[in-house]
Amino acid sequence: MNVLAVFLAVATLAHAEDLSTTATSNQKYIYFTSDGGPNGGTPHVLDAALEADIKMTFFVNAENLDLSSWNPRLEHLNQKSIQRMVFEGHAMGDLSFNHMVHNSDEGQSNPINTYRNISDIDYFGAMNVRPLVRFFTGKKIERQQFGRVVITMSKLVRLPHTDHWRVNMTNGDVIKHNCHACTLPKASNDIAIEIADELYNRGRSVFGWDVEWQSNWGRGLSTTYQEFMEKVVKFKKGFLATKGGPNKLVVLTHDHGFINNREDAEQYVSFFKAAKAAGFEFRTLDTFHSD
Ligand SMILES: *[C@@H]1O[C@H](CO)[C@@H](O)[C@H](O)[C@H]1NC(C)=O
Ligand SMILES: *[C@@H]1O[C@H](CO)[C@@H](O)[C@H](O)[C@H]1NC(C)=O
Repeated sequence: MNVLAVFLAVATLAHAEDLSTTATSNQKYIYFTSDGGPNGGTPHVLDAALEADIKMTFFVNAENLDLSSWNPRLEHLNQKSIQRMVFEGHAMGDLSFNHMVHNSDEGQSNPINTYRNISDIDYFGAMNVRPLVRFFTGKKIERQQFGRVVITMSKLVRLPHTDHWRVNMTNGDVIKHNCHACTLPKASNDIAIEIADELYNRGRSVFGWDVEWQSNWGRGLSTTYQEFMEKVVKFKKGFLATKGGPNKLVVLTHDHGFINNREDAEQYVSFFKAAKAAGFEFRTLDTFHSD
């Protein structure tokens, strides 16, 4: 008998048991966030969340709601996705009006020189929230749902390409974190830090993330759900630290991974189910401060 094989079998059993016993006694939250929508990938993300019955937070760019000049079909799809986010109970956050594309020399948002001027702060807040308010005005939507869109979009902010945090917790703690190599060069990142500070001073919560489940533009996820689950378990066991404390894991993903690969959204369903089975609860970021 191969001793190593026996050892591995026992270790795997112990591991599985450990997951199930700690789950109930020590609740863990996952805040699953998806950035950059609505776009062609968003419906598949929404379908996955619906199938596994989880709620998530979408950080959106309102620019995607007005594409009539070049792609009316996509505009219609994006508007439908925005409605689904609201009606299916997800939270929405502010990822700036246009993902800072105005600062890009190639016409596509990238992590080089993403921020060039403190006036870039104008792309957050009203510029991003107002198109949604305009869109929902006159739609059949309950006041409570409408209020949640406006409130969460006006409160929860993420800066494209930066992992900066400014979050007041109910217990008095303030989570403050800057990522120094997220946006280059340093001068651009310094402006991003200044913008994060100013957004915080204006009463916003600025959220980065703890772990990213990477995807390739239009071509699906870079790792399987089992690989990603392994990473998540490391946080749960305290091998890796989360910024909001040991029981709160903010996951970053992107809608655009599924534009040409809807099959990979099934990986999400498997992950949601596996994480739930391991004792994780999925929450939206609007309750992060008090959870
Ligand atoms: C920042 O942008 C504003 C608005 O576009 C412009 O008026 C101002 O000159 C810019 N400032 C710098 C330092 O580039
Ligand atoms: C966080 O606390 C600061 C300082 O007390 C306050 O100015 C800011 O409005 C608070 N932000 C939120 C989102 O509550």
